[in-house]
Amino acid sequence: TVETTLQGNMPFPMGAAVNVSLLKNNINYRNLVTKEFNSITAENAMKFASLHPSKDTYTWSDADYLVDFAIANGKRVHGHTLNWYKSLPDWVENFQGTTAEWENLLKTHIQTVVGHFKGKVVSWDVVNEAINDDGSFRNTIWVQKLGVDYIGRAFQYAHQADPNALLFYNDYGHEFGPTKRTAILNLVNDLKSKGIPIDGIGLQMHIRVTQNDANLTAAISTAAATGLRVHISEIDIALNPDNIQNMTYTAAMGDQQAAKYKTIVKAYHAISKAQQFGITQWNVTDSDSWIPSTYNRPDWPLPFDALYQKKAAYQGILDGVK
Ligand code: G3I
Repeated sequence: TVETTLQGNMPFPMGAAVNVSLLKNNINYRNLVTKEFNSITAENAMKFASLHPSKDTYTWSDADYLVDFAIANGKRVHGHTLNWYKSLPDWVENFQGTTAEWENLLKTHIQTVVGHFKGKVVSWDVVNEAINDDGSFRNTIWVQKLGVDYIGRAFQYAHQADPNALLFYNDYGHEFGPTKRTAILNLVNDLKSKGIPIDGIGLQMHIRVTQNDANLTAAISTAAATGLRVHISEIDIALNPDNIQNMTYTAAMGDQQAAKYKTIVKAYHAISKAQQFGITQWNVTDSDSWIPSTYNRPDWPLPFDALYQKKAAYQGILDGVK
């Protein structure tokens, strides 16, 4: 009998955000990534501060290690992220320059990074989280220095550096309701209508187990209605969003989480095959999830537990395509 794996059983690519240090140093982690997934996103190793810590210095080693691991094991690499307002190095935060110098900084970073990974990284989150929850443009350092049109130019710069790479706009909160979702869809439709090379939309899907299903399925179907590829790019389902310090995981909580994973996978499976870029979970197991350390609470957001074992959520994912 062949062991069930996500990559072997799901009809679209299944990915995980990978921590390079754990990949190098933890054999259980590495084995699980190797076995279960056929798409890899760098959790942090391809962010601006990681790759480009000073103006004339690029540090490729961790990202190259991840890419080499992926290619050696037949896995796709999705790049994350060329432009964001977070995880910027101090030299960018403190950069004093004219508009033209800022433009050059943006272009040089994008084209150096995309060029370095050309032919290896098949797709990029070009711009990440440019829209506020109220639907306005986030007032990031990039908007302050360059205005909102930098978004379209970021896609053009990436396309020039690797015309074969698939280019995504990535954000969270499509499932919050129509306000943020509509603003994101308006942005990508506007880019499309201007002939900007955009291929896909990334729905992060950092959700809570109490998230209502109607807004979840609307998030997926409205993204698909753009005609672009849809990537569920960072899914995890928090069980303890109210930060209860002494909470423990129960089977009942696991079943609720499994049902929510199933709902999402089912809605995703219903969009056209050509648009199914894949589903990527953010981190690998409950023990390496960003959520407990970021919010300082116990939580169990992923389909694998801290002992690398499959949880009910794993079966929920499989059930979503039955
Ligand atoms: O590497 C330093 C380390 O040297 C230092 O000792 C330590 C002390 O705080 O910080 C370390 O850097 C941290 C880095 O993760 C690596 O662990 C940063 O402080 C921390 O801010 C960073 O958090 C990451 C966060 O993005 C910001 O870049 C998370 O790991 C990562 O999971 C998270 O991922 C984001 C996606 O990129 C975008 N969507 C939301 C998602 C979750 O927040």
